Order: sequence, then structure tokens, then C-alpha cells
Amino acid sequence: MKKSDVVKLILKEKHYQAPLNSVGKSFAPTNIALCKYWGKRNQEINLPVTSSLSISLGDKGATAEIKLNSFQDEIKLNGSDVALDSSFSQRLINYLNLFRQPDQIFFSINIVSNIPIAAGLASSACGFASIILALNALFGWQLLDSELSILARLGSGSASRSIWQGFVEWHAGSLEDGMDSYAQSLSAKWPELCIGLLIFNNSEKSISSREAMQRTVATSPLYSAWPDKVAADMIKLKDAISTHDFKLLGETAESNAMTMHATMLSAWPAVCYYMPETIMAMQKIWKLRTQDLEIYFTQDAGPNLKLLFLKKDITSVLNEFNKLEIIRLFDV
Ligand code: DP6
Repeated sequence: MKKSDVVKLILKEKHYQAPLNSVGKSFAPTNIALCKYWGKRNQEINLPVTSSLSISLGDKGATAEIKLNSFQDEIKLNGSDVALDSSFSQRLINYLNLFRQPDQIFFSINIVSNIPIAAGLASSACGFASIILALNALFGWQLLDSELSILARLGSGSASRSIWQGFVEWHAGSLEDGMDSYAQSLSAKWPELCIGLLIFNNSEKSISSREAMQRTVATSPLYSAWPDKVAADMIKLKDAISTHDFKLLGETAESNAMTMHATMLSAWPAVCYYMPETIMAMQKIWKLRTQDLEIYFTQDAGPNLKLLFLKKDITSVLNEFNKLEIIRLFDV
């Protein structure tokens, strides 16, 4: 099954026409997984081995503005032109190719992002989600949320979860065409919950999450334990979210991230996203917990940590981590 076959299944006879000069514009939040998506059962259409669960980061994310262009594609990032032969543009153009008859229409696209690109902050997640939402607006397709999630997934797996705010579950699904592999928003809200970004390094990652994931699945002797770990963690997280059990949420998210990194460390060649600052911050967090500050972390494919804590502890957490950027999760 190719990406273009999935697009055909969803768009069917829908058109690729938009009034001249009209603009499709849409924002999508980035998201952080509390239970990670790590490993694909189909690499072409980004079908995951397991389900995953995330929280969207409010007003942190990307806005895509798309219009039709006459002669060639035009790609801007934060208002500046990006060379069409760059890897950033190529990935985007490959995605846009799914939504046009080649050589018949061109796009002018500006992505404005308020998070660092490729620093393990899920920039591709909000990028692809904002693009599919903007295309849906430009062409007036009126797709269902589940369809938008599937189409976003074709750009990047985690983008399937960036269609919504709040808590989001991406169902692994079992169909070969992936039509049952989409994300859904969970109705629960948790206004007390805070996420803080502890950024040590904003530069491009040495190895992409895509490549790290593939290498882990192919070579880690620990990977076979991952699906059972996720199944147990998904139950715990949903329970924690519905009862606002912060200890259960924090412990489960942190342990899930540590287990994911353990599978990477045991891949060959090993994948290690830790920087000395990452480890020092982890040790500090573990110590603070023994001193009764309820604070946990999660980590994605990068050295930065995302801290989990409750509003009541904001002052104490800021005293310990003065560079922390606190995200508004539920009150945007
Ligand atoms: C560690 O969604 O970037 O952030 O589907 O290959 O584009 P592709 O991978 P991507 O992987 C995200 C991995 C993660 C965990 C997560 O977000 O669930």
C-alpha cells in the first residue's frame, strides 16, 4: 500500500481547486507523548506497532498558510524562503505531491513555527498537521477529524495526534491500509497539569527519530518487551487522567520514556540522545522527589526534557529550574 493509495481512499473524487488568491490557514499544536510511539509495522504509511497517548501543547505549534502558485512551489519557514532542494523542502514537497496532479498545480506555503525545529520538540508533528488542516481549508474538503488524522500520519506518525488540543490517543489499528489507525481526542481536561520545557540544545538532532526508531526495531534485543510495556502504560495513563492521579501519570510517563530510551541504548549502533545536562537534570528531579516535590519528566528523540508538575508547585519548580518554559495546556 502506497501513501497515494491511502489518499485516494480518503479523498475519493474530491477536487484540487480553490478560488484564485484564496488562502488556507491553520494552526496545529505540537504534542508530547506520555506513552510513546516507538516502532512501525509499516514504514511507508507510518503504521505504529502500538497505540500511544499524548498531550498537546496549547499555543506552541505551527501555523501553515497555503495558496496555489502559478509556476513552481514556494516554501517559506517563518517568512524566509527555504531552498527547494533542502531536505526540509524535499520532505514537504513529497508530502504535497500527494495532494495534487503533478505539474498541474503548485503551492506557495509559509510555515510559521514558535518551537525549535528538529530539537526533539515534535516540530514535524505540528508541521504536517497544520499543513493538512490548511489544505482541507483551502480546498474546502470538509474531511472528518479521523480522516485528517490519517492524512497527517502520512507526513509523520506523531502528526496524527496534533489535530487536537488536550489529551489524545492514537489507536494503533490492525488493518493493512491503516484506515483504523488514527488519533482521537480524550474528553478529560486537567487544568492543574503543567508541562515545562527544559531545553539544553536547540540544534538539529544527530539522528532523526525516524531512523532511530527503525534501527531500534531492527537491532534492539529489548524491543520485544516494548508492546507489553505500552499496553500496561496505556491503561495506567487513562486511569490517571480520568481520576487526576498525578503520581500515577508522572510515574507512568517517566518510566515509559526511560524504557523507550533503554531500547535505543541497546540498539546497534547504539542511539543515545542523552547529554551530560540531561542526566544531571534527571538526577536533580529524582532528588527533588525524595524531598516531596512532585515532579516527573519525559524525553523524546533529543536531549531536552519535558517536566510534568502541578500548578500548585510552579514557584518551587521555577526556583529549581530557572530557565524552564512553562506551557499553558488547557487554558488557550
Ligand atoms: C520519540 O512521528 O517523528 O517523539 O513517523 O517517522 O515521522 P515518523 O516519526 P515521528 O516519531 C516520534 C517519536 C517520539 C515519540 C512520540 O512522539 O510518540
